[in-house]
Amino acid sequence: MKFTVAVSAFLLASSAQAASFRRRLSFERIAGYEPRSQVTDHNAIDLDQQAIEIQLAMGTTESFNAASKIYTDGAFSKSVAKVQLASPLTSSVAEGDQITGLNADGAEVVGTAYASYSTGADVIEIQYRTLDLQSSYVGCQVGANPNPNTVGCFAPTGTLSINGEGSVSYTYNPLTDNGNKRTIQGFSTAAKEKMHDCPNCPYSTYKKFYDYYGAFDYANQWVLAAFDGSRTSFSNGNADFGIYGFEGKGEAIKKGTAFMNIWMYVIREMEDALDDCQEGCSIENCNDDPVHAWDEAVAFYTGSLEGKDGSGSGVLLHALADKRCENFKTCGDLANDVTGTSHVNLEIFRQFSIGLNKLLQAQCSSAREQKERIEQLMAVPMIQGALRYAYIIDMENNSGEKAEAEGATFAAAVLPLVHACNADAAATIYDSLRVGNNGSANFQKVKSAFESVYECMGIRAEYVGGYYDMTTGQYFKGAAPAGVSSNSGPNVGLIVGLTVGGFVFLLLVYVLSVRRGKRAAADVQNKLEQSEVAQEQPEQPSVEASEVM
Ligand SMILES: *[C@@H]1O[C@H](CO)[C@@H](O)[C@H](O)[C@H]1NC(C)=O
Ligand SMILES: *[C@@H]1O[C@H](CO)[C@@H](O)[C@H](O)[C@H]1NC(C)=O
Repeated sequence: MKFTVAVSAFLLASSAQAASFRRRLSFERIAGYEPRSQVTDHNAIDLDQQAIEIQLAMGTTESFNAASKIYTDGAFSKSVAKVQLASPLTSSVAEGDQITGLNADGAEVVGTAYASYSTGADVIEIQYRTLDLQSSYVGCQVGANPNPNTVGCFAPTGTLSINGEGSVSYTYNPLTDNGNKRTIQGFSTAAKEKMHDCPNCPYSTYKKFYDYYGAFDYANQWVLAAFDGSRTSFSNGNADFGIYGFEGKGEAIKKGTAFMNIWMYVIREMEDALDDCQEGCSIENCNDDPVHAWDEAVAFYTGSLEGKDGSGSGVLLHALADKRCENFKTCGDLANDVTGTSHVNLEIFRQFSIGLNKLLQAQCSSAREQKERIEQLMAVPMIQGALRYAYIIDMENNSGEKAEAEGATFAAAVLPLVHACNADAAATIYDSLRVGNNGSANFQKVKSAFESVYECMGIRAEYVGGYYDMTTGQYFKGAAPAGVSSNSGPNVGLIVGLTVGGFVFLLLVYVLSVRRGKRAAADVQNKLEQSEVAQEQPEQPSVEASEVM
């Protein structure tokens, strides 16, 4: 892959000061990014999202309850066993101490103490060891998993060896006592502590969301209200999901979890990396923690389903950016293609790699530039999503709850950023795309409102593109990118150019015909026609309209 090669070349070229890291084993890539720490367990958070989506798609009370449990309890990330010891601990156990036992087949299971336990404790939690290989990152995936995998879990009864010493008998129920310490809900419920109250907090982007919604766990409240079919009580941007059936609620939930809960946590990890980074530090591995946090940001942005090169079928932000670029003709390095990796992902991954390198070289304050660039780009697919559904509702007269819920959730994921630039623009977008607007969105108003804040948001209109009809090879009516003069196709500029050029040319033809006679003029006219034929090659739609995400 071109991108991968470019990244490798960059890392090689600038690894002079990161010599100590060269000795470390290299980790499996994440959509081309080369992590410097193990984040396979973090990368697996997308399996929670996928499991939620599968349950939501079934559209029953039972399946929504199952989805809700995966959201609140987790299933695939940070697996922990809670075991009952036959006799209390005779000496204390420190967090991280190694604890081993056997699975039901008698194979060794390795874990570590999840917390510190004092002498006398008789219930302990053991975090399962995770591996570097994504395909086998952990063997115990229970929690709220509708299809629990207990192969790598501790057996129901047995003995544990703590720090290689002694043996302590235990019992537990593998199906109810194996849980998860990382959940998609937790990304939002921890926001107050991790994004608002921490020493360098509130983080700038989080603050905009908090200021707009007036709730620390706004993303969680959105998702819970959608599950409940109830009303949010934010200071702005409220939604009453009571009008929705499973379809509308399902869209609000699955887009909320991925594009509100996880979206903000990606930014939190980058902020965390910058917080812990020691500027100019040259002690070996002094910035391991920031590097790990940065790797986590990439994992939460991407997820395991994208695979090593990003060609997989993911369910997180990486996948969304690539779907939206097909709708808005912003794929590829030049953001002008309808297929391939989105410009947003190409640029974000370039920035992820540059940021990683700066952290490795202890250029902490300089790495803030990458965080900010990535944050700006992360808003683009949300704007594209909001525009797309504004168009579908308004111009295609689609008043169904599915389109409305999709538009409302994309808007909810970006409105605080718009509001921070211009409260009126945010109100305009909300009025069109709110839950319960009953088919009366105004696409042109939404489009103009977004365009009015691009500069403030640090976004170029080219990144957002225009809503594009692949079957005609033209932008949809009135949906061309800001700055492109009219309603029709991408070759508008070209056609206008040809018309003006042609007029000048005809003038020249006229002058020539007067001066040199009709024959010379006919030659020129001929050439003009040929050049028009050559230049007017309509764009061929190259892929089918992508599935609605
Ligand atoms: C939507 O409704 C308007 C007004 O009733 C109509 O002019 C237009 O053709 C409709 N568009 C589609 C795609 O059905
Ligand atoms: C929504 O629109 C439909 C048709 O346009 C109409 O019949 C219905 O009463 C409207 N509902 C509300 C709550 O306004």
